[in-house]
Amino acid sequence: MTPRQSIRVPLGERAYDIIIADNLLEDAGALLRPHLRRPRLFVVTDENVASAQRARLEAGLAATGVEASFITLAPGEATKSFAELQRLVSELLDLGVERSDLVAAFGGGVIGDLTGFACAILRRGCGFVQIPTTLLSQVDSAVGGKTAINVPQGKNLVGAFYQPKLVIADISALATLPARQIRAGYAEIVKYGLISDAAFFGWLEVHGPALLEGDAAARIHAVKTSCAAKAAIVAEDECETGRRALLNLGHTFGHAFEAAFGYSDKLLHGEAVALGMALAFDYSVRIGRCDEADASRVKRLLRNAGLPCEISDLDADLKADALITYMLQDKKVEQGAITLILTDAIGASVVVKDADRADVADFLKAKTGR
Ligand code: GLY
Repeated sequence: MTPRQSIRVPLGERAYDIIIADNLLEDAGALLRPHLRRPRLFVVTDENVASAQRARLEAGLAATGVEASFITLAPGEATKSFAELQRLVSELLDLGVERSDLVAAFGGGVIGDLTGFACAILRRGCGFVQIPTTLLSQVDSAVGGKTAINVPQGKNLVGAFYQPKLVIADISALATLPARQIRAGYAEIVKYGLISDAAFFGWLEVHGPALLEGDAAARIHAVKTSCAAKAAIVAEDECETGRRALLNLGHTFGHAFEAAFGYSDKLLHGEAVALGMALAFDYSVRIGRCDEADASRVKRLLRNAGLPCEISDLDADLKADALITYMLQDKKVEQGAITLILTDAIGASVVVKDADRADVADFLKAKTGR
């Protein structure tokens, strides 16, 4: 076992730790025991995670006498719905969850977002911990308290800020993930370098290939650096009234592509974010904020990792007007103005609140050719 890394998310009474290491599931009981009022944990997971990792978590809980009740949902974005939320909340109530109990989200972003929202509203807020099992959820969605479901009008439009009491990021759980999911999570890791840490971006240029191949030390370093960066931003702006919007680098463009693909597995969130970050750099070059050399460096790193960085990399016939319409559904739209996270350089991202909508449309027309 590698030495445990720990990052504190300093939010006063709601502060919590993110524990990062390999083989942590085997120790889950000991890690959770101090947070449990009674030796019982309610675990929400999906079928894929259950078949790959449930036995490890169960053994880790049983080692300290913690009894676990599992609720296993279908994998995939469709699970983040009102219908599934209703079913989950009813099932948790039927199992007898009390306000002082802990419910664990054991899975990726879908399970984390749905379970977190269920916990935020169940008995007006019951205990919640995150045990993320994908690279993307370990570096982003399990940290910071954003919880949500999707509605027909758009993704994550109904939700709450609700912080977990602990995050357990077991790097060993990544071993069973398909390479495509690892690459998608890697895009969010690259994001932290691009937002404010040029040295970390340089580290990824050297160590990214080892991380993608499965090197545990590289993964632990990258997850720890990403979580520390996120914790610092969340501590400053928990409810995204300002600086936290930087964490959406690549997301406004990216969400438009996800919407165009119907939020399906044809384009994973991390893949959309990679393309969105490349476009944010290209657009920043277009308006004279950023050097072409930086945009090329970013696209080289993404391409070498097998991630899309041009619209032509997607297998779809997309129109600029449709993409702009999707961008206007973004949560950051204010009085019809598009907020974009743009950049002055690698490691120097900025929130631009009133991006020129017509110019963004022209940029996308030039990129899509229509
Ligand atoms: N994933 C962006 C945020 O947590 O703010």
